[in-house]
Amino acid sequence: MLVHVADVLDANELAHCRQRLAHAGWKDGKSTAGYQSAQVKHNGQLAEDDALAIELGELILAALARNTTFFAAALPRTIYPPLFNRYSGGEHFGLHVDNAIRYDRRQQPALPIRTDLSATLFFADPEEYEGGELVIEDSYGTHSVKLPAGDLVLYPGSSLHKVTPVVRGARIASFFWLQSLVRSDEQRRQLFELDVAIQALTARVPGAPELVSLTGIYHNLLRAWADV
Ligand code: NI
Repeated sequence: MLVHVADVLDANELAHCRQRLAHAGWKDGKSTAGYQSAQVKHNGQLAEDDALAIELGELILAALARNTTFFAAALPRTIYPPLFNRYSGGEHFGLHVDNAIRYDRRQQPALPIRTDLSATLFFADPEEYEGGELVIEDSYGTHSVKLPAGDLVLYPGSSLHKVTPVVRGARIASFFWLQSLVRSDEQRRQLFELDVAIQALTARVPGAPELVSLTGIYHNLLRAWADV
């Protein structure tokens, strides 16, 4: 399941991030890639211990914490500290799969995080660059994603994906992984659809008696499927 989460950042946060990232110290992105993906990765990235990456990463985590769509779709258990990348001048990232486990080395001892979901948060608007599509192959087919600045896409960590060459302008984004409370993409999708239906029914028929039953079913499924 791919989920587009709109307006993760408000206008002030977006302007702040864009202004700070315009002067960031970009390094070769191969440093965080696994063996296979390093062969096909051509971009710039902020070091994980870069002070700006840490500061803006915390801003993003705070924005995610207040976003109910993100929470409902991801059911996050542990979020890897957000990273930042930049593609320009033909840079691209060939087809690859993300490492299954990432280690958050800011924790002592390092905390293993299973990458159930991958996320990309866009800082540049689509018209600011040419190319740079995030192309995702999952069990539902191939999807090409290029979102407005401030928006985020969530996609299964198990998918093959690539970023096509950026031939004009610059594509700046944050990316991160998360371990979900619900490991199965299929179960998480069903919970999300049930949640969305309950929210819609709540808005259309406030106080409908069926809402109690449906909400109970949601929580009983979550209790059955979650690992905490
Ligand atoms: Ni990747």
